[in-house]
Amino acid sequence: MSVIPVLEADVLRRQDPELAEILLGELARQSTTLQLVAAENFTSPAVLAALGSPLANKYAEGYPGARHHGGCEIVDVAERVAVARAKALFGAEHANVQAHSGSSAVLAAYAALLRPGDTVLALGLPYGGHLTHGSPANFSGRWFDFVAYGVDAETGLIDYDQVRALARTHRPKAIVCGSIAYPRHIDYSFFREVADEVGAYLIADAAHPIGLVAGGAAPNPVPYADVVCATTHKVLRGPRGGMLLCGSELAERVDRAVFPFTQGGAQMHTIAAKAVAFGEAATPAFTAYAHQVVANARVLAAGLAAEGLVVTTGGTDTHLITADPLPLGVEGRAARGQLAAAGMVLDCCALPHGDSRGLRLGTAAVTTQGMGEGEMAGIAALIAGVLRGRVDARRARDEVRDLVGGFLPYPG
Ligand SMILES: Cc1ncc(COP(=O)(O)O)c(C=O)c1O
Repeated sequence: MSVIPVLEADVLRRQDPELAEILLGELARQSTTLQLVAAENFTSPAVLAALGSPLANKYAEGYPGARHHGGCEIVDVAERVAVARAKALFGAEHANVQAHSGSSAVLAAYAALLRPGDTVLALGLPYGGHLTHGSPANFSGRWFDFVAYGVDAETGLIDYDQVRALARTHRPKAIVCGSIAYPRHIDYSFFREVADEVGAYLIADAAHPIGLVAGGAAPNPVPYADVVCATTHKVLRGPRGGMLLCGSELAERVDRAVFPFTQGGAQMHTIAAKAVAFGEAATPAFTAYAHQVVANARVLAAGLAAEGLVVTTGGTDTHLITADPLPLGVEGRAARGQLAAAGMVLDCCALPHGDSRGLRLGTAAVTTQGMGEGEMAGIAALIAGVLRGRVDARRARDEVRDLVGGFLPYPG
């Protein structure tokens, strides 16, 4: 099966060469540079096939067995399969697989549990909170009264004492745990205990670690949180999208918060692709993958630290690393630019001490490509070589191209 079935059939190339070129150009970019963006991965050809299927044509407002459109008998089965697989994978009583994205899932969780003006305690944005955790530029910051907890400036670890103290002072209606950049496991049982003490709901935004949870390589928030929000496209390796997991008692509120409160028609091709990804994530191969993702991240983090970058929290438990390149004489934004020119694609992020930007990178995609600890050590050395000016961009790009050529994301 081709990665892009329409291109194999030459349909797009004949009908719309301009767009065909763009799609092939992106495939070439992904096949010749290193994808170290922590939120990205390579979906399987089976997931891509579901995304490019005729299910994309179907309107299906509502839920299986209760749709507002006719002709939903087949897509209803797809959604039931996706829900059943998600429930089994994460041990949840209820799953909603319709959320269009991670942000939509968080919006729906708030809609299910909160009213405008309610107080919410969440990790502050400068410490790795997501936009949906109270940014003034986002609906969350405008509609709710967010109070931020932080991380210890020295260790980079969540300041759990501060979480408890702020919860006691502000008595929030909900506490959010989850981050775009926190490299360590989150102590969900602690958050549950504090939420119970102050009578708050606990929302786990597990957008990043949910794939590791599926593979048994990170703790599962489902037994602790009232609602778990997640994306399906990061380590989980599914299509771009979101989902929510919760107990039976909140099932109806969560479903109604997704549709009709925040969304219209479900995207059935994406839901089918989520089902495919959940099926893949339930295999022993995925368990091995998830553990390799973490092993790779640990080696990459150790390699960067050995080269002189300051790795936040001193390492990682997950797929994700944040590091300050300043000791090498380069600030985060400039470092990202230099590395991009050298064929290594990653992000900037805030750092706990807040003075300058750091680098955020992850190992989900390179591990899917089949790279292991040896390649991670080489990547750490190459990153440092570029940032120290020992390896020029052109030589680095050639090295990257050679490396990726041995681990093509979509061979052939
Ligand atoms: C913690 C967290 N929540 C929510 C999201 C939002 O996901 P999306 O980009 O699919 O809206 C992200 C995305 O990176 C995330 O890391």
